[in-house]
Amino acid sequence: MATDRRKFIKQTAGTMLAGIALTDFVNAENSKIISSNGMKIESDDEKFWSMVRQQFPLTKDVAYLNNGTMGPSPYPVIEAVRKGMMDCDQLGSYGGWEATQKKIGAFVGANEDEIALTHNVTDGINIACWGLPLKKGDEVIITTHEHVGNAFPWLNRQKLDGIVLRTFTPASTAAETLNRISALINKKTRAIAVPHIPCTQGQVLPAKEISTLGKGKGLFVFIDGAHGPGQLMLNLHDIGCDVYASCCHKWMLGPKGTGFLYVRKDFQDTLQTYFVGGGSDNAKWNMATNPVQMGEYASSAHRYYGGTQNIGLYRGVDAAIDFIENIGLQNIHDRIKMLGGYTQQKMLEFGDKVELITPTEEQSRCAVNGFRIKGMEFTKFNTLASENKIRIRSVAENGLNSLRVSTHIYNTKSEIDKLMELIKKV
Ligand SMILES: Cc1ncc(COP(=O)(O)O)c(C=O)c1O
Repeated sequence: MATDRRKFIKQTAGTMLAGIALTDFVNAENSKIISSNGMKIESDDEKFWSMVRQQFPLTKDVAYLNNGTMGPSPYPVIEAVRKGMMDCDQLGSYGGWEATQKKIGAFVGANEDEIALTHNVTDGINIACWGLPLKKGDEVIITTHEHVGNAFPWLNRQKLDGIVLRTFTPASTAAETLNRISALINKKTRAIAVPHIPCTQGQVLPAKEISTLGKGKGLFVFIDGAHGPGQLMLNLHDIGCDVYASCCHKWMLGPKGTGFLYVRKDFQDTLQTYFVGGGSDNAKWNMATNPVQMGEYASSAHRYYGGTQNIGLYRGVDAAIDFIENIGLQNIHDRIKMLGGYTQQKMLEFGDKVELITPTEEQSRCAVNGFRIKGMEFTKFNTLASENKIRIRSVAENGLNSLRVSTHIYNTKSEIDKLMELIKKV
């Protein structure tokens, strides 16, 4: 089996560095294409996954268990950014970033005309929040576990426009979470705006069922998808939400400061665009003959963004999608779900000394886990973890006072064991 599999693993040298050598941060020698050639890779095939690990310049000194904050990029992505910038800066070439809309669309189960390029999740959430036709007194359902990126835009709209926010706490099962949302819906409810995976304890909310519930009641359904693409087998058409905001710099392992906003095609005339510029129109604005009359909006999600983008960053996004697809999203999903399950299993072995706060329900768990250590202040443990070269995240949101571990394909069981050893010690 292992020999068979090895036959299918192709390692070819990546693009050689051209022009100025930036070998300090890009090691062309290390930039290889790791491919499963469409084969299933076992989630515990350490030989394969250690080859994948070698593609990351991420320091080996530290157990980096914080992908939920930032997903480190592998060499091919960094190289693509460098090359994209060099092409632009050497040749004076301009444009070309729209091609990434198609690539992202195909990656998340959407069409290219449903994808707007953004710079992070927060950009997309603001576009969605301000674009919805809401008026004073309209109610929007959010969770008590919001990241500031999904809390502030809605709070700001509450402050400026008088919308009303209703909250629920995600439950330990998907069914109970749905019940809690259902119980908040009344005749003033206009929108559900929840995370696919909250940043706090990493449980996967039932986005498809939430969308079906919301759409069935005539509500706008918005999903903060910061942690969806690259972690889950995502198909936005299948989920059925109206709008989904995400980034490429977490689970997609892309360049920092890249993101996208999905707006369902037949929702684009409902979600008003306010932030417009070059590319947001249907090219009917005639600057020569009638410069004071606007044409129509672009007949695509390009209406939600305009102006110059950093082509290098978007070539990096393309490379990140290729990197994932070469390995296989299903293989990646299985690997990170296995590591997430391993983390849960180890935490449960501590009995009542460690409280795992992420559900163990199969459909509600993936690569992110939250926990508390009995008798130890969460920030104190986080400091200790840092001193011991383990990177995790404190979770102060909504007084949860807990810790969060998030693992991606470059992690190993032994890095998780290192964390467990430290927990055991304290
Ligand atoms: C659930 C969630 N929403 C939104 C954000 C904000 O993302 P960004 O920094 O890309 O705007 C984050 C970041 O961690 C997050 O975890």
